[in-house]
Amino acid sequence: MKHYNAPMCGIFGYVGTRKDSTKMAVDGLKSLEYRGYDSWGVAWKDGDHLSSQKEIGKISTVDGSKLSDNSSLVIGHTRWATHGGVTVENAHPQFNEEKTIAVVHNGIFENYQELRDELKAKGHVFTSETDTEVAPHLIEEYMKETQDFAQAVRLACKRFSGRYAIVAVYSKADTMVAARTGSPLIVGVEKEGSDVIGYFVASDTPAFMAHTRTVQYLDDGEMLVTNGKSILFSSIETGEEVAKREIEIEWSEERANKGNFEHYMLKEIMDQKESVAWAVNQNDDEIETVAQAIRDAKGTFLVGCGTAGKACMAAEYFFSVVSDRHVNFAPGSEFKLYHHFLKTESLLIVISQSGETADVLEAMNIAKSKGAKVLSIVNVKGSSIDRASDYTLHINAGPERAVASTKALTGQLAVLLLIAYALAGKLQEGKKLLLETAAQINDMLNPRYIDRLKQLADIIKQKEDLYIIGKSWNYPMALESAIKIQEVSYIHAEGFAAGELKHGPIALIEEGTPCIVLVGKDEVMPDILSNAVQLKARGGFIIGVSPEKNEIFDEWIKVPEAGAAQAIVNIIPIQVLAYFLAVQRGKDPDMPRNLAKSVTVK
Ligand code: M6R
Repeated sequence: MKHYNAPMCGIFGYVGTRKDSTKMAVDGLKSLEYRGYDSWGVAWKDGDHLSSQKEIGKISTVDGSKLSDNSSLVIGHTRWATHGGVTVENAHPQFNEEKTIAVVHNGIFENYQELRDELKAKGHVFTSETDTEVAPHLIEEYMKETQDFAQAVRLACKRFSGRYAIVAVYSKADTMVAARTGSPLIVGVEKEGSDVIGYFVASDTPAFMAHTRTVQYLDDGEMLVTNGKSILFSSIETGEEVAKREIEIEWSEERANKGNFEHYMLKEIMDQKESVAWAVNQNDDEIETVAQAIRDAKGTFLVGCGTAGKACMAAEYFFSVVSDRHVNFAPGSEFKLYHHFLKTESLLIVISQSGETADVLEAMNIAKSKGAKVLSIVNVKGSSIDRASDYTLHINAGPERAVASTKALTGQLAVLLLIAYALAGKLQEGKKLLLETAAQINDMLNPRYIDRLKQLADIIKQKEDLYIIGKSWNYPMALESAIKIQEVSYIHAEGFAAGELKHGPIALIEEGTPCIVLVGKDEVMPDILSNAVQLKARGGFIIGVSPEKNEIFDEWIKVPEAGAAQAIVNIIPIQVLAYFLAVQRGKDPDMPRNLAKSVTVK
């Protein structure tokens, strides 16, 4: 039997006094589309029954006001499936046979097969291939026992294994019920004066940011039931009430929107004119506390995935060069095997933009089970990783919506470098360097510079292979450059430690193969330039990203000289280049194929 699921999706729900709930749902889902964009669906309460609309493809052009103009209770979903099944039937919401119960779901019910068999034996008929569909059928079964919708959802949730978030509605109740274990769900509280006039639930805050910035966080193992005027949080396991406080979120809507940019990716690249400085704007005492925690630790591990993992790798060099300290990096998915080295005195530093990455959360659980402390560096405040950490530093980059991570990376690098300087007892020196670098980035990202990179993209856009080399902290940036180019342009790109070329990869170089060389004005500059000469001798078309011109460069992309912050400035032109390679090859850089923004499954 094939395993179909809905692992990484966007959820929206609303109940309250407004009558335009389907419009709000569609608008909210548009802002969650970065989480999944192969199909979408909305269900709303229409008198005493549920109406719905489900479609394959993106929700971007849909007008939600055309679905209904008189509903105050709605749930919606954008789906991203890892295994097959991009069909209307598999889109969410999923229903029971009578279509009285609707459920949207993010994550995986790992035991869905067993539940499906059990429900089929009781006469339930399934119409989709999803794991999600067991939920409305199971809730219906429990309704027979309890007559109470919220209680039936609770009993159903107790049967699910795996990481998930769901929102469920029932045609005969004016309430919305939501539950989570592992996947994010945030509540938005809309008020008029001090009166609550509506509740939102969503996988991420931009979904309701146009209506409210007052939030409450649902934690793992918890559920909620709301009628739009009041809300009750409780434990799924025991049913006992849980108290919650309201928190005001700071990100403005403007920082979450595209503004005049055609794509979020370009907007977020340009945000780096300011966002590096936002990241540097940390409280000195907090940075010193973290530095002390690293000094006190017996073994410090850095964990992150994808781009965040490359920030960790760069930090290995920061800590070594700036503060003479050895730290160990492992990608989240590989960390399990390091548990032999963990002790109560160990420290795990996790890096994540979203704060929801499953492999990172698993690494944290492993570390905590050994009694180790966890420091996180995240962008999304209130995310699962943020809340589960002993210490957290926020990079303050504002919402990052494009799948390709750009401003989050440079923010992560800035905070990690700041910690390295603090460890060396030179926090103020580090701050000064980073603020100067931030100002240089502001100058660098001018229209002429962007146009120059656009022209370079035009020169190499037909190439099918591209290689990037770097040394020291530019080596992880070479790996990161490859990720950026691969994920948005689909060009085969690979990054290497420059000195490794001669041990194998140089065999790939042919006449005209584009080779990007990431250079800094540092002690390894002569070495990397000599590696670039070797590439050129095999016919490589050398694109030098460097503070200084060199005769071996066929194209020179000038970057400011930034000392230990060189990795931060060197990666930015590659982000711009990747963006234009995608656009000029006719690809959508914001929604690359096969990918989604938050990877909430292992
Ligand atoms: O949200 P996170 O920073 O934990 O995400 C980790 C990776 O999935 C992420 O950096 C991914 O590699 C980027 N989308 C690549 O641009």
